[in-house]
Amino acid sequence: MQKLIIDGGVPLEGEILLHGAKNSALPILAGTLLCHGETILKNCPRLTDVFAACRILTHLGGRCAIQEHAVTVSVPELRSDTIPENLMQEMRSSIIFLGAVLGRAGTCHVSYPGGCELGPRPIDMHLEALRQMGAVFTISGGQLEAAAPKGLHGAEIHLPFPSVGATENVMLAAVLAKGRTTLHNAAREPEICDLAGFLRSCGANLSGDGEGTIVIEGVKVLHGCTYAIMPDRIAGITYLSAGAITGGTICLRGTSGEPMQNVLPVLRQAGCRIYEETDCVHLMAPRRLKAVPFLQTMPHPGFPTDVQAILMAMFSVADGVTVFEENIFENRYRHVDALVKMGAKIRVSGRIAVVRGVRFLSGASVTATDLRGGAAMVLAGLAAQGTTEIRQIAHIDRGYEAIEQTFQKLGASIRREN
Ligand code: EPZ
Repeated sequence: MQKLIIDGGVPLEGEILLHGAKNSALPILAGTLLCHGETILKNCPRLTDVFAACRILTHLGGRCAIQEHAVTVSVPELRSDTIPENLMQEMRSSIIFLGAVLGRAGTCHVSYPGGCELGPRPIDMHLEALRQMGAVFTISGGQLEAAAPKGLHGAEIHLPFPSVGATENVMLAAVLAKGRTTLHNAAREPEICDLAGFLRSCGANLSGDGEGTIVIEGVKVLHGCTYAIMPDRIAGITYLSAGAITGGTICLRGTSGEPMQNVLPVLRQAGCRIYEETDCVHLMAPRRLKAVPFLQTMPHPGFPTDVQAILMAMFSVADGVTVFEENIFENRYRHVDALVKMGAKIRVSGRIAVVRGVRFLSGASVTATDLRGGAAMVLAGLAAQGTTEIRQIAHIDRGYEAIEQTFQKLGASIRREN
């Protein structure tokens, strides 16, 4: 088991290159199953979740070659329609393969994805939408059998909630289905637009991505393509917030401010000076951050749930009180105990967390609970006085490429130990 050791209190200074988006790479890798021919994905992040997705593709009959940040995939024929339990358990979001395998093979067998540290991760909206497209599901003993006896067909679908995963599964199932699919109340996250851009590059006919309604006209075949994955806006906010919490100056290269437009105003309200250029975002932190009174997580274009933990760490040392309301996941305050152990003053009641900023945090020994909660602990450790040890950092490696090297480049005293 690996851990991170951080000697905090050093203002971070310097330039880092932002890696590609995990939450875009995963559905796009599932989409390569639908293509006849070779697909080359550029700017693909080197993350454990991406390697797990490549193992699923290989198990299904695909050929995956990873060179640095390029992944080349070809799936000349599907050798299996089954994603075994061990591979399903490795990555919570492997349910994203359901729509693609159904679209390619007409059947799919997966083990029912378990919940995760964020709470029960139901897939009722995924299944209901795919049923309307002609899929039939049998669930028994934790196994999910899916079949589309007459093939998948277009449908008029209304999602009860703009679920990112359900939107992606419908897109992947509809691009080769017979006829038109109209998806109402679709998720609008930038990663949805990136998946749509990839599918269009492969010859799909879809429009409306990024708005509330996506229209997809099924086509007969999709060809391979070369596609560059968008930068990771959540990792980008994480690195900028690390500059903010340590009172430093960061140049985040590899992205404009555009994908982070729903969070940069919050960093500015907190007193950070931020300059956006086409290929980088500069942040200069104030001497002391100012609290922002109220932040509620909402579907895009609202404040993203994935940055809630990260900004909670940052505001734990601000001047004033910040109230968070987590509206997307049931159980996304598991990082609070660790931050409190480091001296933060945070009280949680249901979906509300009240953060009363303190002058300093103190280093402590903590355990990462989930991907973004672990990142929050890293930020707290970078700002804290003294040494912080973070265990269970496999959570963090799912979504951040070599996180200790990134922060070492900015002058942090941080190392990985077995
Ligand atoms: C995606 O998860 C992201 N994961 C999450 O990022 C992100 O937090 C989430 O979208 C919201 O933006 C990937 O893209 C791989 P949802 P997903 O379906 O698709 C409920 C990270 O840190 N729901 O929009 O699972 C669900 O329980 C990860 O990178 C149902 O009830 O999110 C949740 O409360 C964490 N039934 C809410 O909707 C369903 O059928 C949002 O889920 C589907 C979802």
